[in-house]
Amino acid sequence: MILCSCNRITEDEVRKVARSGAATVDAAYACLGCEAQCGCCLDYAQEIIDEVRGTRRSHLRLVKSRAA
Ligand code: FES
Repeated sequence: MILCSCNRITEDEVRKVARSGAATVDAAYACLGCEAQCGCCLDYAQEIIDEVRGTRRSHLRLVKSRAA
């Protein structure tokens, strides 16, 4: 699946460079010989990298109740 349409980078390519040590989108794209263009893919690409590297943070937040 294409992750970055500007550079025609696939999700599998990003996973591969993340496994090889790329910790950021800039580093991953540099390993693939390109750089971010429009930026639409950056958040998802970083999620993939974080997932592969085991550094993914939960998007769930505890909300303090105001009903007291
Ligand atoms: S979709 Fe990746 S830089 Fe535009």
